[in-house]
Amino acid sequence: MQRRTGRFRGRTDDQGAAITTVDVDRARRETPGCATVTHLNNAGAALPPAVVTETVIAYTQRESLIGGYEAAAEAADEVEGVYRSIGRLIGADPDEIAVVENATRAWDMAFYGFGFQPGDRILTTRAEYASNVIALLQVARRTGAVVELVDDDEYGQIDVADLARRLDDTVKLVALTHVPSSGGLVNPAAEVGKVTRAAGVPFLLDACQSVGQLPIDVAEIGCDLLSATGRKFLRGPRGTGFLYARRDLVQRLEPPLLDLHAASWPAPDRYEIRPDARRFETWETNYATKLGLGAAADYALTWNFPAITNRIATLAAALRDRLRELPGVAVHDRGDRLSGIVTFTVDGVDAAEVKRVLGGAGINTSTSSADYAQWHLKGRGLPDVVRASTHYYNTEAELDLLCRQLPRSR
Ligand SMILES: Cc1ncc(COP(=O)(O)O)c(C=O)c1O
Repeated sequence: MQRRTGRFRGRTDDQGAAITTVDVDRARRETPGCATVTHLNNAGAALPPAVVTETVIAYTQRESLIGGYEAAAEAADEVEGVYRSIGRLIGADPDEIAVVENATRAWDMAFYGFGFQPGDRILTTRAEYASNVIALLQVARRTGAVVELVDDDEYGQIDVADLARRLDDTVKLVALTHVPSSGGLVNPAAEVGKVTRAAGVPFLLDACQSVGQLPIDVAEIGCDLLSATGRKFLRGPRGTGFLYARRDLVQRLEPPLLDLHAASWPAPDRYEIRPDARRFETWETNYATKLGLGAAADYALTWNFPAITNRIATLAAALRDRLRELPGVAVHDRGDRLSGIVTFTVDGVDAAEVKRVLGGAGINTSTSSADYAQWHLKGRGLPDVVRASTHYYNTEAELDLLCRQLPRSR
C-alpha cells in the first residue's frame, strides 16, 4: 500500500491503478459487529473496525499497568501521529488540527472565536445542524450579529447563486453543513468554497456526516474551518472529534475557553495563546480514544475513497427504491446528489415505533426529530422520520431484511 501525504487518495494496487470496488468480505471480516447486528445506523455511530477497538483497549491496559501520565509519555510519538493521520485524511497539515471530544465542540470552538459585532452577518442554510443553529441564535442574541438563511435551490441544497448575491464585506462567516443529519442531501461544498474564497469570507464546514463517507480535501473544498466527529462514517470511538483550522486563520480566532495547554502564562499578568490549532483543545484528554481516532483515520486511508463513497450511495439508493415500492412508505430525501442517509415514514406508525420494531429484529436504525430540524423537516411540514444509513460494509441482503421487517402502514 502506498500512502501519499496531503491528499485523501486511499489504496492503490501494485501497478498504481485505483481500486474501484470495495472488498465487502474484508470489510465485514474486519468489523466484528457485522456478525451480530444489521447496522443501518451509521449516521448515528458506525461499527468500528477491530483495529480501533483494539487500539483503545491496549492503551487503556497500558495506563492501568504503568500509570496514565507515563503511558501518555510512552505513546507520545503515536499521539503526534494522530494529527498526521487526520491531516492526511483531509489534506491538512498537523498543526492545523485540534483533536476534541466531538464535532459540536469543534464547531463551537471555532465559531465562538470570531468575536462578532452588532450588524455582522452570518450566512447559513435551512439544513444546518441543530446544535450549530442554537449557537448561531445565542450569538445573534448576545452580540447583535444577524443570522441570515441562504435560499435552497430546487433540490433543497444551498443555492450557490443566492449565496454569491448575499456576500459582501458585512458577512463575517458562512456556515454550511455538508451532509445534513436529517435528510439525504449532499451540499455542494466546493462550489460554496469557490464563492467564499472569491469574496474573502471565512467558510466553516460541518463535515460531521461526510468525513469517512466522502473524499474530503480542505484545499479542494476551499473551506477555512471544518468540524468532524470520530464515531460516524469514520468509524472511530465515541467521544472523539476534530477541528481543522486553516493556518493563516488560526491566530485570528480567540478560543472562547483557554487553559494551560491552549495558552501559556509567561508573566504574572499576561498569557499567550499558542499559535497552532491546538489552542482549541484542553490539556486533559482521553488518550485511549484519541489513539483510537487515529487508528480509524489510518484504517480509512487503507480504502479507496471513491469506491467507498460510491458503495455507500449505491446501497442507500437501492434502499430508497425498495422502500418506495412498499405501500404507505414515503421517502423524504431531497438533493441533486444524495448521501448514505435515507429518511422515510410509514403511514400511521410513529418513527419511534418503526425503529423499535426494527430493533427487535436486530436491525439498528434511528429517528430524526422534527424538533431538531425546525427549518429542515418542520419547515417542510414533516414529522419525525426514520433514518437508515448505509456504510460500505452493509449488504443488499441487509436492505431486504429491513424491508421485510418494516411494520406495515396502518
Ligand atoms: C451534521 C451534524 N453535525 C454535527 C453533529 C454533532 O456531532 P457530535 O455529536 O459529535 O457533536 C451531528 C450529529 O449527529 C451531525 O449530524
